[in-house]
Amino acid sequence: MKDSILEAVGSPLVRVSSPEGATVAAKLEAFNPGGSAKDRPARSMIAAAEREGVISPGDRLVEPTSGNTGIGLAVAAAARGYDLTIVMPASKSPERRKLLRAYGADLELVDGDMEDARERADELTEQEGAVQMGQFENPANAEAHYRTTAEEIIEQVEGREIDAFVAGVGTGGTITGTATRLLEEYPDMEVVAVEPEENAVLSTGESGEDDYQGMGPGFVSELLDTDLLDSVETVALDEAEVEARRLAREEGILVGQSSGAASVAAKRVAERLAQPDLNCPEVPDDLQELVASDGGTKDGYDDCPLVVTVFPDSGERYLSTGMFD
Ligand SMILES: Cc1ncc(COP(=O)(O)O)c(C=O)c1O
Repeated sequence: MKDSILEAVGSPLVRVSSPEGATVAAKLEAFNPGGSAKDRPARSMIAAAEREGVISPGDRLVEPTSGNTGIGLAVAAAARGYDLTIVMPASKSPERRKLLRAYGADLELVDGDMEDARERADELTEQEGAVQMGQFENPANAEAHYRTTAEEIIEQVEGREIDAFVAGVGTGGTITGTATRLLEEYPDMEVVAVEPEENAVLSTGESGEDDYQGMGPGFVSELLDTDLLDSVETVALDEAEVEARRLAREEGILVGQSSGAASVAAKRVAERLAQPDLNCPEVPDDLQELVASDGGTKDGYDDCPLVVTVFPDSGERYLSTGMFD
């Protein structure tokens, strides 16, 4: 039994459809209590601020966020007894607003993008004497992934070598924290960032307009350790959404836009690394075997290139956008 919902953070690593001669596996972050990868940094940033004596239960927190960090903070704030104001661009999905209110957070919507949300959050912080967690600068964001996401992956690959780690970039917390820890275990591993084709700051140095929620902030986050990156893949929103629909309909994995993009990019990397002459293990055909053995025999995995990626949230968070219609 867990003592708190905050102890229930964690997610499975699941094999997804992969090119011949390679394996792609995705961390399904929708399994976290607040339904996204952001439960990890939310919990960790609040814990760090408590440890440093900056906040204590009863205080007010303010955060500008495109949604998932807000929901993660709302879960942690409810469980720890904080008041919380979330500042979010009005363009983000209605599900996000409803969820934030359901957890008891106060919500302020702003016209414009994340930059506008950040400005307004700064004003509120000053006016209300509140504290910001600062997900774009806070080292506890990346540390959460170093200590949890990466550790879980290392255990979940059950001794297999990881050849590449592919992740979408918003604050950069996921890719920086996870890749730093994974590289300690697998020093030859490639690290591949994913960003919106329409807002490819990392690839081109120029920001643009995109409709992804959570990925592609339009600037290079202070937290993103660009030295870790071997390459950057850009994915158009249309292609990401087609892939998210395919994952739902063909694999039973309901995920959001940035997960679709991560999947497209992970497959590109897997195709490049694939060794079709190797006999990479197939998912067992027999459901009895699959259920009984939790994935069947692991024999023969060793040489088969393995690409690990992260699916940050669930497709349920995007139903109103019409993305699955
Ligand atoms: C849906 C979604 N995808 C990807 C990301 C990017 O993760 P990170 O901020 O750790 O780079 C986020 C972050 O908010 C997100 O909400």
